Amino acid sequence: MFRVLILYFSRTGNTEKMATAVAEGVRMIEGIEAEIKYQATPEELDSFDAIIIGTPTYHHDMSLDMKNVFEQAAVKNIDLKDKIGAAFGSYGWSGEAPKLILEILKNKFRMHIIEPPLIIKYEPDGKGLALCRELGKKVSERLHALET
Ligand SMILES: Cc1cc2nc3c(=O)[nH]c(=O)nc-3n(C[C@H](O)[C@H](O)[C@H](O)COP(=O)(O)O)c2cc1C
Repeated sequence: MFRVLILYFSRTGNTEKMATAVAEGVRMIEGIEAEIKYQATPEELDSFDAIIIGTPTYHHDMSLDMKNVFEQAAVKNIDLKDKIGAAFGSYGWSGEAPKLILEILKNKFRMHIIEPPLIIKYEPDGKGLALCRELGKKVSERLHALET
């Protein structure tokens, strides 16, 4: 059984809606467990096979909580190498935070990232939620592909 973490931040609920749909997508594939969390310790990150980060863009940046967890994981030398990583988030006009996340997962933690990040303007509609499910499903499929 593979375990997928969906770690997200959301101030007004838009990225939270995306997180729920991403988890639904992850669970569409058999043999994959999805856990949604609002906060995680760096050690917890290590206990998952894939990590999907959700963050809206505020002030051209990711949330402070995300920065903190990455900083602590780096300080503690948490080894995330070769895990699967993906990112998503709601935005208003620039939406760079999920891209920044993927750069960190790839360059600092040496994870296998799924590109591009999924960004949705403000509240996700039905089409947006379907894209979120697709992202989750893609992560699960990638995990099974690694198995073979
Ligand atoms: C104070 C403030 C700053 C923001 N800064 C940005 C920004 O730099 N770039 C951007 O694309 N959107 C920006 N937004 C828009 C938010 O990303 C957008 O409202 C998003 O849907 C919030 O997601 P959430 O509901 O998950 O918190 C900002 C919104 C606020 C209130």
